[in-house]
Amino acid sequence: MDYRDAFRSALEKVRAEGRYRVFADLKRHRGEFPRATWTRDDGTTQDVVVWCSNDYLGQGQNPVVLDAMKQAIEEAGAGSGGTRNISGTTRYHVELEAELADLHGKEAALLFTSGYVSNEASLSTLYKILPGLIVFSDELNHNSMISGIRAGKREQRHVFKHNDLEHLEQLLAAAPSDAPKLIAFESVYSMDGDIAPMREMVALAKKYGAMTYLDEVHAVGMYGPRGAGVAERDGVMDQIDIVEGTLGKAFGVMGGYIAADAVIVDAIRSYADGFIFTTSLPPALAAGAAASIRYLKDHNEIRVAHQERAATLKARLTKAGLPVMPSVSHIVPVLVGDPVHCKMISDILLSDFGIYVQPINYPTVPRGTERLRFTPSPAHSDAMMDDLAHALETLWVHCNVKRVGGYAA
Ligand SMILES: Cc1ncc(COP(=O)(O)O)c(C=O)c1O
Repeated sequence: MDYRDAFRSALEKVRAEGRYRVFADLKRHRGEFPRATWTRDDGTTQDVVVWCSNDYLGQGQNPVVLDAMKQAIEEAGAGSGGTRNISGTTRYHVELEAELADLHGKEAALLFTSGYVSNEASLSTLYKILPGLIVFSDELNHNSMISGIRAGKREQRHVFKHNDLEHLEQLLAAAPSDAPKLIAFESVYSMDGDIAPMREMVALAKKYGAMTYLDEVHAVGMYGPRGAGVAERDGVMDQIDIVEGTLGKAFGVMGGYIAADAVIVDAIRSYADGFIFTTSLPPALAAGAAASIRYLKDHNEIRVAHQERAATLKARLTKAGLPVMPSVSHIVPVLVGDPVHCKMISDILLSDFGIYVQPINYPTVPRGTERLRFTPSPAHSDAMMDDLAHALETLWVHCNVKRVGGYAA
């Protein structure tokens, strides 16, 4: 049997659907965020402006972060040298966990190697700690949460319609009143840019005796007076039982974590395979992340500038008649509605205009809602926005994409 045939036909399938992923080979320019050099397949290069980075605030270029990482390498070397249990717990990990606990106003925090791992490992572990646990999960929750929640039996998982409090309440009311329950949701949903009704979610959890698990991956660093996320902004941080976040987006480095009561963190630390059986983060990453968190706690003006840039871009693109989807956050999605067009526009933006924005196609978003997703940062200037709007206006005509989609103003 030629196994390769199966691999070829799997690839053919994604190609035929126009969703074969091609990675852009980029080298970011230190200190010049959001500029980068793109290397083409033939080895030639072009300078580009990155419009889709999740380094939302440019912290990956902040000298304070870079200096902390360099110093940690000088002091402690490259890797951590082990799992957390076997020589891989360093001063840097301990300090970072204290920084995270303080950020979220919790007793403790626990580091993982990514946000993905933190969700998958923590959620799957909760079934071990709480026998009979029933999880209520928003239908648009990230793949990492779904993956963790799938560890439960079919009858232990319920999916509620996106941000739909009525549906969530129906499901909560129908569940056995004595069963342990957990509501799992995100704050900022990164593909649409909408935000969960935080206070109402928390009130429902209280009414039905459920715990809350909140993914603030697309909000930490960016919302709340100290950057703890939307729960901080909305004044409900103390009512979230487990908050989960990443160090790889607004904090500009890499890694994931949860923060919660000490007893919850200690139990997950003791039972989560995805925490126990893997090498811990390198000290330099932990040092950089801690420096970034500390910096953002004290620099609210960066968050203000970030929101201003997002509002300006939304207004600029809407004025140009482009179908900007109704985001209430820093995410600026523009509907294309077709995977082939979406990829084509993205390709031409890169090659002809030096603008890099990744096409977002199925399965990341539902078919028919393919889009370009822009993430303006405080470093995206008015001139860059003018260039982007001009390029999009040109391409919308050239590629014959519906100018005014269902989302246009
Ligand atoms: C909502 C959400 N949670 C978790 C993750 C995973 O975070 P990380 O990139 O740190 O693995 C992502 C990644 O994009 C995400 O969008």
